[in-house]
Amino acid sequence: MSEEKTTSVDATAQKTFLTYESVKSHTTQDDLWMVIHGKVYNCTKFIDEHPGGEEVLLDVGGLDATDAFEDVGHSEEARKILDELCIGELDPSEVVSSAKSPSTSDSSVSTSSSGSGFFSYIAFAAVIVAVGYYVYMQSANGATGNPI
Ligand code: HEM
Repeated sequence: MSEEKTTSVDATAQKTFLTYESVKSHTTQDDLWMVIHGKVYNCTKFIDEHPGGEEVLLDVGGLDATDAFEDVGHSEEARKILDELCIGELDPSEVVSSAKSPSTSDSSVSTSSSGSGFFSYIAFAAVIVAVGYYVYMQSANGATGNPI
């Protein structure tokens, strides 16, 4: 007779953990939850006040809204409001499965990947040139009838 676990409390850190499954059932104007950066927010009271309108919030109700929230470039003020709406954290075992967001809580990200990206671009271009050259040589040989 054990019910499925939807919440648990980490007594030492006073954190409430919620499952993604439980977030998914709060999708209406009267009861709207969403996940942003691994935390769960109850946005019900804020729907009417949202400067970006209620529609966009309802669109991401019950979902991971990290990308939608960050794409808009919300202000510090918006993040303070967010803090007030926080009702818990996504169960740690589930944060990976909604892994669109980097797990850093600061906004000081974005330094690491550009260098290696450049080199893979060069490598890709080199492969394309090599294949093109090979195909060109094959067809040139075919055209002259030269077997070598
Ligand atoms: C509970 C989560 C959210 C809070 C607390 C919040 C808060 C705010 C606040 C305070 C603003 C005013 C501008 C600013 O200070 O940045 C704003 C604007 C806006 N928000 Fe949100 N927002 C939330 C979620 C979202 C989501 C998920 C979307 C989805 C696309 C969104 C879309 C927008 C848009 C488009 C604007 C711009 C409105 C305009 O400048 O005309 N917001 N939001």
